[in-house]
Amino acid sequence: APVPGPDLTTCHNAIKSTNTGEPVACCPPQVGQEMIPLPYDLPTFTKLRTRRPAHEALVDPDYLKKFRRGIELMKGLPADHPHNFMQQANIHCAYCNGAYYQAGFKDVGLQVHFSWLFFPFHRWYLYFFERILIKLLQEDGSDNDGTFALPFWNWDVPDGMRFPPNMHSGSLYDPLRDSKHISSIIDLGYSGEDVDKPDDQQIQCNLSIMHTQMVNNSSRPLLFLGGRYYAGDTSTPGQGSIESTPHNQVHTWVGARDQPYHEDLGNFYSAGRDPVFYMHHANVDRLWTIRNTNKFMERDWLNALFVFYDEDLKLVSVKVRDCRDTTKLGYFYEEVPRPWEHLKR
Ligand code: C2O
Repeated sequence: APVPGPDLTTCHNAIKSTNTGEPVACCPPQVGQEMIPLPYDLPTFTKLRTRRPAHEALVDPDYLKKFRRGIELMKGLPADHPHNFMQQANIHCAYCNGAYYQAGFKDVGLQVHFSWLFFPFHRWYLYFFERILIKLLQEDGSDNDGTFALPFWNWDVPDGMRFPPNMHSGSLYDPLRDSKHISSIIDLGYSGEDVDKPDDQQIQCNLSIMHTQMVNNSSRPLLFLGGRYYAGDTSTPGQGSIESTPHNQVHTWVGARDQPYHEDLGNFYSAGRDPVFYMHHANVDRLWTIRNTNKFMERDWLNALFVFYDEDLKLVSVKVRDCRDTTKLGYFYEEVPRPWEHLKR
């Protein structure tokens, strides 16, 4: 049977780090009477929004202003408001650090990494995050042309291989980042140790990692998506190609090396506290549109559920099946070169 989603009524403290560590409170705040979700009605989108590469979008003053303003508005909401930036970050903590039991199971935890839930969970998560930003910007009079969309950290092309620009001040700043990495070329194979290769060599390594993961290691849908994970399962089956590399490495490369749990990006409970998280995951999401899995139709995947607060503060449940086409969710990714696709060795 499909994973039934979390039981919000039995949400409890999560653990910083997946297995051991201090407890951390990150359950969603309660709005209204009870924590029972209703099935989500997907709006019909007439105009699609374009998610652009961060290294271009964030040097466009108008875009930068909007994005900064949106995050600032989120950060300015009351601390217990579900749309507050920290509450949005806590969604990741709750789903990933063990705050939930699966609905209908007394003691079975829920984990959205290390399985086929990875891509769909994060797509829905970003979808609502983006809808909330759009709503805040509209109420503020800052997105009147209706074009705002999240940027993606395009770390798979040479121009995008540094930390996205203009994130070192204002609402996009997060102090818990690895200061040694903030201006260097990313190492998509980062093992926790700096190798200090010349830039051009690092770029070639990164492209070759991308080729290996997107082409060689993603030949079948489950290799890309991650293993089958069903209702009542007490452990996760294993990560898909991109989740394992470079998705994880980007997290560790950004998180501060001197923090106990590699905060912020380097641990699930804190990752969403750095605005770059949403840009990192937009790129992961974009890779799912490139390696499309439309032919993969196993029902227990299609019917798996997640629960979120939507932009109108309604508690809603969403299914994997409804997020497979981003244009149905109102957005698409700007076409950019894929220099890793036809790499000759
Ligand atoms: Cu939910 Cu990049 O982790």
